[in-house]
Amino acid sequence: GLLYAMKGEIESMLTEDTPLLQEKAGVSFYRIREDIIACCGGVGKVNAAMATQLFIDLYRPDLILNVGVAGCFEDLPIGTLVLPDRFMQHDMDTSAVGDPVGLISGINMIELPADTKIADELDRVCAAANVNHRLGVIASGDQFVHTTERRVWIVSTFNASAVEMEAAAIAQVCFVNKIPFAAIRVISDEASGDVKIDYMTFVKAAAATSSDIALRWLRARA
Ligand code: ADE
Repeated sequence: GLLYAMKGEIESMLTEDTPLLQEKAGVSFYRIREDIIACCGGVGKVNAAMATQLFIDLYRPDLILNVGVAGCFEDLPIGTLVLPDRFMQHDMDTSAVGDPVGLISGINMIELPADTKIADELDRVCAAANVNHRLGVIASGDQFVHTTERRVWIVSTFNASAVEMEAAAIAQVCFVNKIPFAAIRVISDEASGDVKIDYMTFVKAAAATSSDIALRWLRARA
């Protein structure tokens, strides 16, 4: 199962003939190949969690790969691919009642791991395709991060390499359903300053790079 957030991100995966399997609760499911279903679940943690649970209940995928773009917290050029080994939710905060910042209620975890086998395979596919990539921590939250203050806070609290709005929610749903999960995120902006200009300019190309790596990986596994 491939899980995207936005139409602009999933676009490069679809052709005119790609069958739309169904739309449920605003989430569209497409058949990409006999053994691959992709879905476009919407932006943010709630949409992502809803789409992930629907995906699992409807199609019981062997694994879920989240594909998309991210804002960068390091000195990485736009277009760099980040393969997360861990995910956290930067806006989860019950510290006022004594919890550590980022603790996810119910599962009592701050960090959710990526499936190491999938992450290793993706790492090898990126290297073989000569795609500039690095491993790192992804911080997810319901904010398009664009201020230096927020960026500095997330980096110092979670040591994150990149930020986006869904992966850690998908990781949580996969974790409780025991579905292997990994993500590919390509940098579309620097999460500060002119984010809108960078994001609008680079989102499609960045999303196409992540889909390309996903397809290469799927081909290698077929
Ligand atoms: N996705 C891409 N860029 C982002 C940013 N700066 N903040 C949150 N999600 C993003």
